Amino acid sequence: MDWGMKNRIQRIFKEDGKTVMLAVDHGYFLGPVSRLEEPRKTIEPLIPYADSLMVTRGMLRNCIDAKYNIPIVLRVSGGNSIVGKDLSNESITVAFEDAIRLNVAAVALSIYVGTDYENQTLTNLAKLIDEGQKYGIPVLAVTAVGKELEKRDAKYLSLSCRIAAELGAQIIKTYYCEDFEKVVKSCLVPIVIAGGPKLKNEFDALKMAYEAVAQGAKGVDMGRNIWQSQWPVAMISAIRSIVHEKASLEKVYSLFKSLKDKA
Ligand code: R5P
Repeated sequence: MDWGMKNRIQRIFKEDGKTVMLAVDHGYFLGPVSRLEEPRKTIEPLIPYADSLMVTRGMLRNCIDAKYNIPIVLRVSGGNSIVGKDLSNESITVAFEDAIRLNVAAVALSIYVGTDYENQTLTNLAKLIDEGQKYGIPVLAVTAVGKELEKRDAKYLSLSCRIAAELGAQIIKTYYCEDFEKVVKSCLVPIVIAGGPKLKNEFDALKMAYEAVAQGAKGVDMGRNIWQSQWPVAMISAIRSIVHEKASLEKVYSLFKSLKDKA
C-alpha cells in the first residue's frame, strides 16, 4: 500500500487500530432529519470527540469550518430520497476531483446487494476503488439495506461485506447483527458498524456498540444513536470508552450516566 493511502487510513484509525467515526451524512436521502435541521449546532460540540466525520459535500462546505483538523469521509453516492420509489438505485454523485479538492481522508458509497440495482451499485464501487487507487484515497463501502431493516442478519451481511472487500473496498461499514463475529471473520478488511435508527434507549445503543467491538468491529460509524440522544456528548464519550479504552459495558454505562447527570 502506498504512503498516501496508508496515511489516510491511519488518520481515520487511531494508534490502537480503532475509530469513532461520526456519521452526519443522512440528509443525502432523509433531508432535514431530526436534530440535523441546523447541522452546525448539533455537530460542532461533538467534533472534539470524533476520530472522523462522515458527511456530504454540501454539509462539509456549508456547515463545517475548514479550521478543524478532522479526517473527512465523504459520502459520494446517492440520487434517491426516502419518499422516492427505491433507495437502492444509487449513482456516484461527486466527481473524484471534487473529493480531492475537499482534502478527504476517504470516500464512501453504498452498495445494495440482492436488489434490482445490485450490479449498478457494485460497479459504482469498483469504479470508485479504481479512482481511489489512482490518488491514494481509501473507499468505505456501506452495505446498505434501505428500508428493509430485516435484512440485517449474518448471512446477508457476510455476503455483502465480503463482496465489497473482494471488489477492493479498504473499509466496510455494516450493521451489527446476531452472530456478528461470522461477518467480521469472513470479511477481509476492517469493519465499522452503523447504528441504524435510534434505539429505544441509550443503554441499548451502547450495548450494540460494545458487542460489535467485542466481536471484532474496529469501531463505529454511528449517527442517530449519538446525536438524536438528549445527551449526545455523553453518548459519544461513552462510545469512545468502548472503542478506545476497552471499558466494560457496566463502566461505560455508568460513565454515560455520570456525564448525562452533569450535562
Ligand atoms: C446512511 O446510509 C448513512 O450513510 C449513515 O451514515 C449511516 O446509516 C450511519 O448512521 P446511523 O448510525 O444513524 O445509522
